Amino acid sequence: NYLRDDVKSPECEDLLSSLPSEEGWVQTSLRLYRGFWFLSWLLNSVFACQNQFQVHPSDILLVTSPKCGTTWLKAILFALLNHAELLATHLPYSLLPRSVRHSNCKLVYLCRNPKDTFISMWHYFNKFRPEEKGQLPLLEGLDKFCGGISVYGPYWDHVLGYHKASSEMPEKVLFVKYEEMKADTSVQVRRLADFNGRPFNEEELRNGTVEGILRMCSFDNLSASEVNRSGKLPTGVENKRLFRKGEVGDWVNYMSAEMGERIDGVMEEKLHGSGLKF
Ligand code: A3P
Repeated sequence: NYLRDDVKSPECEDLLSSLPSEEGWVQTSLRLYRGFWFLSWLLNSVFACQNQFQVHPSDILLVTSPKCGTTWLKAILFALLNHAELLATHLPYSLLPRSVRHSNCKLVYLCRNPKDTFISMWHYFNKFRPEEKGQLPLLEGLDKFCGGISVYGPYWDHVLGYHKASSEMPEKVLFVKYEEMKADTSVQVRRLADFNGRPFNEEELRNGTVEGILRMCSFDNLSASEVNRSGKLPTGVENKRLFRKGEVGDWVNYMSAEMGERIDGVMEEKLHGSGLKF
């Protein structure tokens, strides 16, 4: 689906063609809509979602920037909510449907160290590039990422939107970092349960419910499960593409210190004054 550049409804064709465009990471172009870059064929759904989506006040929405650990947290929340249907999106806070921002529904936002996010993204999108194009040169990807041109980017604006919302409405938006999840998954799972209004009771804590969720949602277990080895997402993407290494700090295996400093520099400048650090 990352190869598609043809699906546009007549209603949004005019709007689409008026939006600034950039070459994407695969081969479909990216379009800048209200400050964020979208795959152009996806904008149709973004418009529809903004206009029509009605959230239920008891819904919990998982929001992430791509490659920040969506699959992992989705599995954990699915287990915590007793296998209830879970909604997940990559939409920036400012572009969430009105009903989401104005109802009592809760949002769990997951972000990740930008250097690991970039490397994860680079690997992921490379898999969808046509053979004749080869890999996206890493430096070209870095230029794009540091220029804010990535799917749902600029990355910093995506993160800042939810960081601000979480500071202002901590009961509505829970801000979680992938690195915190990796450092102590058990503590974070309990934090998620508390936020969802379903804290673990004494008996659950004694009988190993938390540990069971950790085991079930571990990288090894999820990536080895049959559905993830052979299943596909509704977009046609194979589930196995969502599992690579699942480690913190893997960027050092691909980028020089100078390249890392470039991302750090941009992030420091953009996050300045927000109180947020990676
Ligand atoms: P890497 O590419 O760094 O390995 P998303 O689900 O948002 O697309 O994020 C994908 C990233 O999450 C990938 O990172 C993937 O390996 C990692 N991931 C997937 N399942 C995970 C798990 N159970 N625990 C930790 N990381 C996981």
